[in-house]
Amino acid sequence: MTAGIRLKRLVESSRIVRRVLDELRGSAAPGVTTSELDEIARRLIEEEKGVPSFLGYRGYPASICASVNSEVVHGIPGGRKLAEGDLLSVDVGVYKDGFHGDAADSFFIDHAPGPKAQLLLDVTYEARRLAIEQARQGNRIGDLGAAVQEYVEAHGFGVVRDLVGHGIGRRLHEPPQIPNFGARGRGPRISEGMALAIEPMVNEGTADVIMLDDGWTVVTADGRLSAHAEHTVIVTSGEALVLTA
Ligand code: MF3
Ligand code: CO
Repeated sequence: MTAGIRLKRLVESSRIVRRVLDELRGSAAPGVTTSELDEIARRLIEEEKGVPSFLGYRGYPASICASVNSEVVHGIPGGRKLAEGDLLSVDVGVYKDGFHGDAADSFFIDHAPGPKAQLLLDVTYEARRLAIEQARQGNRIGDLGAAVQEYVEAHGFGVVRDLVGHGIGRRLHEPPQIPNFGARGRGPRISEGMALAIEPMVNEGTADVIMLDDGWTVVTADGRLSAHAEHTVIVTSGEALVLTA
């Protein structure tokens, strides 16, 4: 397979991921359940001739992750009704023609519950942007983590260490692992053509997280809010191409 065909397929899977995320953002409202969002995603991915990457992945039971408030990631969609002021993180993966795309958005239902929550969201997206800025040929994975960690901690928030970003392509999770903390100049070298899923998870309080008994849902140890933003990008000799923008 040529590099051009691989890129085209990553672009296509990522385009569908973006379409689904935009649709979910439009549908998420007070009274809507996260199961309803999962159903919307499943149908849209099917219509696009893709397959939900997460469904059945290590036994994961749904097409999307929907993590509310103190849920960090991997919230399983269910009968919970969204309410005004909730912080929802939705994570979507799409597999099509042999390649995956993976991205997540976080947003408030109707409005932020307060300025600190809004700052948490803004810092999460800016942390992702700073990481992507470091995703260039010749840099190292530690450069991304250091950029995220410094920025997040400067705002007094906690960056989750128990979960990481990842390479992506024919498999949802490929090397290298991409921690959202670390030291500049350390870790694997980044090279042109690498496909990376960059995904900082930022907690309002402690960085510590707990796994719920369902075996999936990761929540903050202190019960405070958490936000997550993810993009699939391709490394070039200059700025990375953000495929899920
Ligand atoms: N974006 C997340 C990740 O890369 C979503 C995985 S959910 C799972 O880990 F169900 F597939 F595990
Ligand atoms: Co991911």
